[in-house]
Order: sequence, then C-alpha cells, then structure tokens
Amino acid sequence: MRNHIIDILTEAGKIISSRIHTKKIINHKSTDVDLVTEVDREVELFLMNKLSALLPGSEFLSEETASEIKTAEKLWVMDPIDGTLNFVHGFPMVCISLALHEDGIPTYAYVYNPLINYLFEAQKGKGAKLNGIDIHVSSHTKLKECLFSTGFPYDYPTNKENNLNYFDHFNRLVQGVRRPGSAAMDLAFTAAGTFDGFWEWHLKPWDVAAGILLIEEAGGIVTNFDGQPYKFSDDHIVAGNPVIHAIMLNEIKKIRK
Ligand code: IPD
Ligand code: CA
Ligand code: CA
Repeated sequence: MRNHIIDILTEAGKIISSRIHTKKIINHKSTDVDLVTEVDREVELFLMNKLSALLPGSEFLSEETASEIKTAEKLWVMDPIDGTLNFVHGFPMVCISLALHEDGIPTYAYVYNPLINYLFEAQKGKGAKLNGIDIHVSSHTKLKECLFSTGFPYDYPTNKENNLNYFDHFNRLVQGVRRPGSAAMDLAFTAAGTFDGFWEWHLKPWDVAAGILLIEEAGGIVTNFDGQPYKFSDDHIVAGNPVIHAIMLNEIKKIRK
C-alpha cells in the first residue's frame, strides 16, 4: 500500500513540478487572494482516479471538490496543492497533503513537496519519516530557543481573528516566526523539529489531516487553543513538542484575556 501511494504521489508531483514556472489559469474563491488554478484541479483528479483504483470503495474529502466535512469507512483527506498562492508565484513552498482515515482513525499521512523533493510520511504507530529517515519533534524547552511558523487567513483585512496579535505576541518571545504559506508544510516541518511550534486559525481538514498524524507520530502534540485534541470542526490549531506546546497554550491564554 505505502509503495503504491508513493508511486502515485511521485507521478502527481511531476504535474506540479512541470507547471511551477508556467502561466496558470487562475480563478478566485472566497476572496481575491484565495486562488485555484487548473493545475490544482488536474492534480486532484489524477489523485482521485489513482487512489480510488488503489483502494476501491474509498471516498474523498479533497479541497477542490469537498462541500462539507464528511466521514467514511475509508476516507482520503487531501489537498492536491497546499500553498496555491506560492504555486501561482513560483515560490516552491508547495505540497500535496494526503491522509487516509480508516473508520475515523488516521492511518497514513504524506506531505510531499516535489520541488524540493521532501517526502514526509507517517503510519499510525510506526513513527514519522522524512525521505526515509526517522524524524522527531524538537527538544527545545525555552521560547528563546524556538523557531515558530504560522499563517494568516484569506479574509485578513475583514476578519477580526486575523492572527496579527498572536503573531506579534509570539514574535517578541521566540527567535523568529516564519510564514511559509503552506499549513501542511508548516506542520510537517514541526514534526521534523525544524519548527518548534505552529499555530493558525481557520484551517480546513485537508490542510491539517496529514500534518497532525506526522506530528503525533514524531512525538508532538496537536490541539485546539483550549488544549482539547484537534477536531476538523475546530477553528484554531496549535502544535509543537510537548513542552513548547504547553508553553504556547499558556501564552495563548494570555493573548485571549
Ligand atoms: C492554504 C495554506 C496556507 C493557509 C491557508 C490555507 P491552499 O491552503 O495552507 O498556509 O494559511 O489558510 O487555505 O489554499 O494553498 O490550499
Ligand atoms: Ca490548503
Ligand atoms: Ca489547496
């Protein structure tokens, strides 16, 4: 199963790599910075065809075709291109995010960036890897040792919860806060210990499904801002190594006061 999934991802990745620097057909979704291109749709269709042939009867919760959060015995939770805005501009922080949920339990997770050739993968109970090598969340325990990542919502100008106050708060406490523009990559790099912590508002299941299993298998914690295990319906997410995650929750409490 794993090898077949990786073959399929590799093929899908070739579509992305071949189009990163070409002109795309751009359509706007919720706002004028929420974009979709013909390549997002092409990669999605390719993955759906191949993955349904691999796992007959499986269903999809995939960004460009999903209408609502759903459950199924075998459910692929997938973002064909996470980081579409980066993709449109040719910035290679772009990935396919793919998770399999079986009876509601995440069993496989892949975050694959074909442009820098980074393949993060996890299998429930079997740990997490980057390009075949075991990864673990970071071991930092003090904010001053940390590099964080986050993102801002597409409706930034009009959304009161636009994350700027959180960004400012954490940016003063840690070595740096990055904003790479792909939540799936942010989570994967947190699993690998590159980022010590990550938080964001208003993410969707396909942005986070793979990253959550990666982080948990790499020894980290993922919750909502109240410290409850993250659910797809949650509007906020915070992740990190166990010590930093607890410190982040405490800081978030201060910001919310
Ligand atoms: C977006 C990215 C971004 C996050 C947005 C997502 P997309 O996904 O993950 O980092 O801040 O909220 O929508 O649109 O590029 O698939
Ligand atoms: Ca996404
Ligand atoms: Ca997407």
